[in-house]
Amino acid sequence: MMTGIIGAMSVETDALKAIVNNATKETVSGVEFVRGTVNGHEVVVAQCGIGKVFAAICAQTMILRYGVDQIINTGVAGTLCDELGLLDIAISTAVVEHDMDTSPLGDPVGLISGINIVEIPAAKKLAAKIADAAADLKKKTALGIIASGDQFISDTEKKAYIRNTFHAIACEMEGAAIGHVCYVNDVAFAVIRCISDNADSEAGTMEYPELCRRAAKQSQELIKKFFEI
Ligand code: ADE
Repeated sequence: MMTGIIGAMSVETDALKAIVNNATKETVSGVEFVRGTVNGHEVVVAQCGIGKVFAAICAQTMILRYGVDQIINTGVAGTLCDELGLLDIAISTAVVEHDMDTSPLGDPVGLISGINIVEIPAAKKLAAKIADAAADLKKKTALGIIASGDQFISDTEKKAYIRNTFHAIACEMEGAAIGHVCYVNDVAFAVIRCISDNADSEAGTMEYPELCRRAAKQSQELIKKFFEI
């Protein structure tokens, strides 16, 4: 079983790259892929860059070049719900592309034409195993829809729009692109994100870099735990 792990920023992947045993490195399309084992599990870890297009390039490369059986997207997210506070964990049941919108043509907002769904279902077993790892770490966790778009959300109105339109629990910028690629390739995926901000007007302010670093670290701790159980 080969597992791909994708994070957008170095702070979201460096701690995982560092624990890959017998690592071999290769750069494809500008993305470094670190392949090896973690606790005897075959993995390939990559930092894809920010946003849906970079995430899609990375996921498709993992599938075609490394033959991954499943992909986990790790990193940070803004919370959209009361259940998730700073440094809590969001685990995907499904992902949506909140900035996909062909509604003027009569489609529901978020519909991905071609596959004709709004919510891309995540792998249940994988999400459940990650939830077990989070419980082992005594982390507060919520399972639900994670919304992705090419926007850093720092606005209460936009936050409310995404929450109310898609019933999403957290927002970020890559998960649904990875889910979309996995869906069309029939590869299992899950998104796990640690909350770094409230996606409101305070989201990008002075505390963000430190919270982002702490949240990114916790998300990687959870992946490490996942490979231990
Ligand atoms: N990643 C972390 N926080 C985010 C936010 N508020 N919007 C989009 N992506 C994020």
